[in-house]
Amino acid sequence: MKILELLQERRDDVFALHEQYLNAQMVRVLHTIGFDVRYTKAEGSYLFDAEGNRYLDLLSGWGVFALGRNHPRVVEVLRDVLAAELPQLVQLDVSPLAGLLAERLIARVPYLEKVFFCNSGTEAVEAAIKFARCATGRSKILYLSGAFHGLTYGALSLNGDERFREGFGPLLPDCEVVPFDDLEALERALCGGDVAAFIFEPIQGHGVDVPSDAYLPEAARLCAKHGTLLVADEVQTGLGRTGRFCAVEHWGVEPDLVLLAKALSGGFAPLGAVLTRKAIFDRVFNRMDRAVVHGSTFGKNNLAMAAGLATLEVIEEERLVERAASLGGELLQKLGALVPRFEFLKEVRGKGLMIGMRFGEPESLKLKTAWKLLERANAGLFCQMITIPLFARHRILSQVAGHGTHVVKFLPPLILSEADAQWVLGAVEDVVNDAHRVPGSVWDLGKKLASHAVRNR
Ligand SMILES: Cc1ncc(COP(=O)(O)O)c(C=O)c1O
Repeated sequence: MKILELLQERRDDVFALHEQYLNAQMVRVLHTIGFDVRYTKAEGSYLFDAEGNRYLDLLSGWGVFALGRNHPRVVEVLRDVLAAELPQLVQLDVSPLAGLLAERLIARVPYLEKVFFCNSGTEAVEAAIKFARCATGRSKILYLSGAFHGLTYGALSLNGDERFREGFGPLLPDCEVVPFDDLEALERALCGGDVAAFIFEPIQGHGVDVPSDAYLPEAARLCAKHGTLLVADEVQTGLGRTGRFCAVEHWGVEPDLVLLAKALSGGFAPLGAVLTRKAIFDRVFNRMDRAVVHGSTFGKNNLAMAAGLATLEVIEEERLVERAASLGGELLQKLGALVPRFEFLKEVRGKGLMIGMRFGEPESLKLKTAWKLLERANAGLFCQMITIPLFARHRILSQVAGHGTHVVKFLPPLILSEADAQWVLGAVEDVVNDAHRVPGSVWDLGKKLASHAVRNR
């Protein structure tokens, strides 16, 4: 089979194939919001369609493409690995590439000592739950309101958004939510001495919510005091995204477990990792007959391990952590400067290149009435009036941060250029400006979206 010929031959069938054999609702969503483009090429920060139009990708595959797409250094390493016909997944053996990647990861997070590899973020969360229960002999897991840790059963049991759980219960027992950024509530939940782990995202992906500066250091102290393991889910925030290798470094916190995935393979292979203290790891893998007590068949596969090694090298060589800090800081500041100019725009928040623009109810009567009508149809619809024209008019791919939020989120590749940053600034200003014209083209779109939302109820 010539795969490229096959793709070419069937290029007009793609939406029909998905409608018939895969998720037809996704096809409906794409058609409705006008994101139904057939991309044919991807390079760096850009996607290209069949007509050669260039799109700036601020979604990065939900945060996967920190290096941009198809980074040549990672491609070269993967080609070398395939060409060498290396053995892998022997299973009754140990993988040299996994040893090397674990060594490099621990060098970046030196207060931890052991690594467990898996295939995704949610699997890293599942492993963390099991490790924490096993190491502490306790069963309760605390998570934060607004949290997102993945969609398998354990991770779903730690999800702060009810809508993801609908229809899937019962979930894992002994999982308890605590309100975001509330130290008193956390201490109350911990003081029974029965909590195995407290899991948190240093910056929540759902709304780009950043905790107050005292929160994480004090949460770490409370967890240590009550014998609870601190688990940082850095699946989205890790690997330089926020301007530090791990986001917890902003607050000087050293968790007992750090979870990585998404950007770790440069976007080439499914890969997740749990970095942990030796004492925890040794409680799980504590006897020879438990050498395979947790794991998965494809964990430590060569392509993922090699891609991980190449990704870490690129992050260092191209100084991407520093780039996220400097360019992200600039972008945050310049987008933030729009807040006083536009009534709907309330706040620009985040760190590095994890950026949220929060919109809210305006003061002036005409805009307020329009906002209220839209909110009544569907809370959070306003943000689609930003992301849709950003895409249609400016070819910028972005997302609404989460269900029912009023936050538009940008997760650009960390290789974003200055010119790309200008592209973003110009486009945001244009679209937000237009959203303040009632009636106007953005509100025509709002009306269409609202009637869709009402029909779908
Ligand atoms: C913070 C966080 N944890 C876990 C996950 C789950 O990762 P995956 O989709 O690879 O299972 C995600 C995915 O968006 C995430 O943002």
